[in-house]
Amino acid sequence: MFATRRALFSNTIKDTFLRTKHTLPELPYDYKALEPIICAEIMQLHHSKHHATYVNNLNVAEEKLKEAVAKGDVNTQIALGPAIKFNGGGHLNHSIFWCNLSPCGGKPDASLLKQIEKDFCSMEEMKKRLSESTIAVQGSGWGWLGYDQKSKSLRIATCANQDPLQATTGLIPLLGIDVWEHAYYLQYKNVRPDYVKAIFDIVNWTDVSTRFKKAAGC
Ligand SMILES: [Fe+2]
Repeated sequence: MFATRRALFSNTIKDTFLRTKHTLPELPYDYKALEPIICAEIMQLHHSKHHATYVNNLNVAEEKLKEAVAKGDVNTQIALGPAIKFNGGGHLNHSIFWCNLSPCGGKPDASLLKQIEKDFCSMEEMKKRLSESTIAVQGSGWGWLGYDQKSKSLRIATCANQDPLQATTGLIPLLGIDVWEHAYYLQYKNVRPDYVKAIFDIVNWTDVSTRFKKAAGC
């Protein structure tokens, strides 16, 4: 009886642990769906290799962290911080990025458009400022349209490496543009401005609008 209870308890712990593992989310479209803006080869590598690596490395780092916490090993816990930030950020950022894109494109809904016009005067001005900031990212990083819940306004920000927007700036991420070379180099080579300009043709404004309404509470 005791052995059975122990096995059940062990399985429960195992299930709980398994449930907390991060997994690579499926894309909401085919790898070739965003062509000709982003070719299938880039999408496949980007999703199944790069994003998958962030997920795997995050799980490894979290497992080590769990062991370090159990041992009371604070040095190891602190040493794992950069790996969790980098791989956790990579997982969060890409999970948003895939949903921010769609072969159908679309337009912002009325509430988001009103906020864009309030904060940037026009949609075109917002796109211009977001593009300029994103293109200017030095090395690898992301350009973001985010929402500042304190000032109740939209903000443009950039993050280096895989730094996640919310954890590092407090802004709620609405639309992210990945400007790591793995996101565009096979197709656009070194011409990052062409990639950033083209990506606006496949922005899933329905997804961005939903994120805005949730962040703004409207
Ligand atoms: Fe990426």
